[in-house]
Amino acid sequence: MPAGRRIVLGVSGGIAAYKAAYLARALIERGASVRVVMTDTAQKFIGSATFSAITGHVPVTGLFDQEDVSPHTSLGQWADAIVIAPATAATISRLAHGESSNALIATILASTAPVVVAPAMHSEMWDQPSTQANITTLRDFGYTIVGPETGPLAGGDVGVGRMSEPYDIADAVFGLFPTPDMAGLSVLVTSGGTREAIDPVRYIGNRSSGKMGNALASNASNRGADVTLVTTQEGPQDAALEIVRVETADDMAKAVWEKAPLVDVAVLAAAVADFAPRNPSTTKLRRADGAPKIELVATPDILAGVNESNPRPLLVGFAAEAGSLDAAAAKAAAKGVDLLVANDIQKTGSGFGSVTNEVRFIFRDGSTRDLDLMSKDDVAARIWDAVLQLRSES
Ligand code: CTP
Repeated sequence: MPAGRRIVLGVSGGIAAYKAAYLARALIERGASVRVVMTDTAQKFIGSATFSAITGHVPVTGLFDQEDVSPHTSLGQWADAIVIAPATAATISRLAHGESSNALIATILASTAPVVVAPAMHSEMWDQPSTQANITTLRDFGYTIVGPETGPLAGGDVGVGRMSEPYDIADAVFGLFPTPDMAGLSVLVTSGGTREAIDPVRYIGNRSSGKMGNALASNASNRGADVTLVTTQEGPQDAALEIVRVETADDMAKAVWEKAPLVDVAVLAAAVADFAPRNPSTTKLRRADGAPKIELVATPDILAGVNESNPRPLLVGFAAEAGSLDAAAAKAAAKGVDLLVANDIQKTGSGFGSVTNEVRFIFRDGSTRDLDLMSKDDVAARIWDAVLQLRSES
């Protein structure tokens, strides 16, 4: 795991809360920055001063009693990952139901970071159908559940319900972050749809949301690559990314062609307008003047320019087809890309703006691979996996 990961440790009220102090230490020893958020009950088992001393930061204990006017959103947005240890039956239930009744749950709801949950409770509580149903719900949310283990419990009982050991929980947290298998690689990604001005108000555009390109940029960055994202949209909130904002195909072409010879891989996921108004009006076109005649001219073929750059990066293109992927193989060959990622934007779950995508990989040698419908994040990961494979073969 790269040093400097930001981990929020959520502590709820069970006797295992004392072990959360060891977990905080274990995370810090392995290079993470740790901030703690505690429930009221947790403070009956362990003092906030313990966590202040270990982490160097005063824990968040409520939504209103600190200097920060919005501690849950500050923490939630800061986090690369959140771990709740111990997670009591009550906290697990609140989480499963999105019941934002304390600073811990509010922080999780205010975050997009992955969540690790380390339950701790008596065996009877763990075995309750309600607890088991809530755990299933959390797994469905994509949360990672660590433990509980079988062993001595509070009050001398023995059984399932004991919180996992801090080092095992720390392993699960670090396991969330992919290995930096793209460290040392520089990559260029384009995303979003270009906008070609008709007049100062109107433009010719398309429905591209930029989600696929953002997922590509984030995934590469998480895997250690040096990423430049040329986009017409808001990029991901990631200080590690170099984001170049552009609007038109012309702007995008300039930014991309300048960078292309300097990178190892270029993935052109942007939906670039093929035609733009020849002479956009500098003043607003008026309805009273009647329907304008807009003459269009071809925009630069950005991909063709990258293909000719010297040195040439490994080149991945996209093909947004409508109705069938039959034309995509010929397009891959004509464009001379190393990999073409084709999707049918009319297929359910694969359209612009969707969070999922179902794509076909078409490689330079003509071979193809159809991927299942999956999240754009997963598609992004598979594209980079394929890129690494191609690089290892060349
Ligand atoms: N592309 C580009 N420059 C353009 C248009 C498209 O670099 N002016 C890139 C896109 O980013 C994408 C690939 O070319 O990676 C294919 O885009 P697509 O629109 O499918 O290709 P076209 O050749 O324009 O095909 P079509 O006639 O189907 O629109």
